Amino acid sequence: AAPARLALKGDLLDFTAAPAWARVDDPAVRFRPGHWLLIEQGRIVGVQADDPGEGWQREDHSGRLILPGFVDTHVHSPQLDVIASYGTELLDWLNTYTFPAERRYQDPDVAQEGAARFLDALLAHGTTAAVVYPTVHKVSAEALFEAAAARGMRLITGKILMDRHAPDGLRDDVHQAERDCLDLIARHHRRERLAYAVTVRFAPTSTPEQLAMAGALCRADPTLYMQTHVAENRSEVDWVARLFPEARSYLDVYDRVGLLHPRAVLAHGIWLDETDRAVLARTGAQIAHCPSSNLFLGSGLFDWPAHLAAGVAVSVASDVGGGTSLSTQRTLSDGYKVQALKGQRMTAWCGLHAATRGAAEALDLSSELGHFDPGTLADVCIWDWASGPVAQGRMDLARDLHERVFAWMTLSDERNLVASYVAGVARFRRD
Ligand code: GUN
Ligand code: ZN
Repeated sequence: AAPARLALKGDLLDFTAAPAWARVDDPAVRFRPGHWLLIEQGRIVGVQADDPGEGWQREDHSGRLILPGFVDTHVHSPQLDVIASYGTELLDWLNTYTFPAERRYQDPDVAQEGAARFLDALLAHGTTAAVVYPTVHKVSAEALFEAAAARGMRLITGKILMDRHAPDGLRDDVHQAERDCLDLIARHHRRERLAYAVTVRFAPTSTPEQLAMAGALCRADPTLYMQTHVAENRSEVDWVARLFPEARSYLDVYDRVGLLHPRAVLAHGIWLDETDRAVLARTGAQIAHCPSSNLFLGSGLFDWPAHLAAGVAVSVASDVGGGTSLSTQRTLSDGYKVQALKGQRMTAWCGLHAATRGAAEALDLSSELGHFDPGTLADVCIWDWASGPVAQGRMDLARDLHERVFAWMTLSDERNLVASYVAGVARFRRD
């Protein structure tokens, strides 16, 4: 259980709104160095400069950075087992590495052990909430829900829908899949901090009938999330065009069946056009940008400012095992490099906001997490500003706050993490 009254002291950094693209002195940045974050029964109740005194369990982390826990909006739990696999691009990579790894999760013991290992790994990387793909197997979603509930975490997941173009042992069928979804929704959706996501792997692995079923599930309950992949890789986009000749675009395959709505999270979106972005904006669907994965699989360069200009919400995500790290700082550092290759620059503010308050707002969870406003649950991480002499030297020479935080984002990783709290309970400590 959470301590009745917990106070954490450090350099508190969060956001009051979305920072503007490319602005380093943005008023949405809230930096309160050497302040106390006050937490009662797992909820943030205030921030103050003065020591709150004897009545509080006090932890003094002066000289450390305190951030809202990161939200990873697109990550595959079973793919920890194939992270960093050599030599292929998306469709090849799925067949060679990913599908064989996912097949093992039909075994309840593998699913349970994998879910626990995965969530503990998230917490050890400073990620306290996530939107997760398990596998096609009902038991794999079940295991994630149970493991997240045991840790008090905000978790959004659902069994993968996949009834074609996948090997034996990894396909469902429309009717059994629908029954499994309804049962999982009845037992887990909105239980504690859990929510169900209708999880279409991607258009090529679902028949039109299954896509229609998924759309009907979403229409029947607007509190459900939806997650899928879209326009990640050029061969994939060509394949979708051949499979769905009636659709205007890859995104349109989803729009036609009612899968685009404010709780829809679409990974990648590299090969979308202006019309697609207008559809995302109109429907309220959002993009989970996965720069590490996009570089590793050679998928392409996502145009972040084009989405902002169109009014589309963008969060950042590891996409492990396509991505090569669960560390949000590593993901953001790759995100900076992706934008640099497009001749654009991502500030530390845009990156960190997208991984905290921005993701929370896009998921309609900002009254629960993502910043330090009173009333939210205390999903909070404590970080060393530097790990090792190179980073320490750079920190010492930083001339302003953005320079310092940008260097932190670029040079740090999970080795900087001191502790992770979920709703005021320490769920990871370095020693
Ligand atoms: N598209 C369909 N499935 C996957 C997956 O598992 N990872 C990535 N990166 N893209 C996909
Ligand atoms: Zn993915």
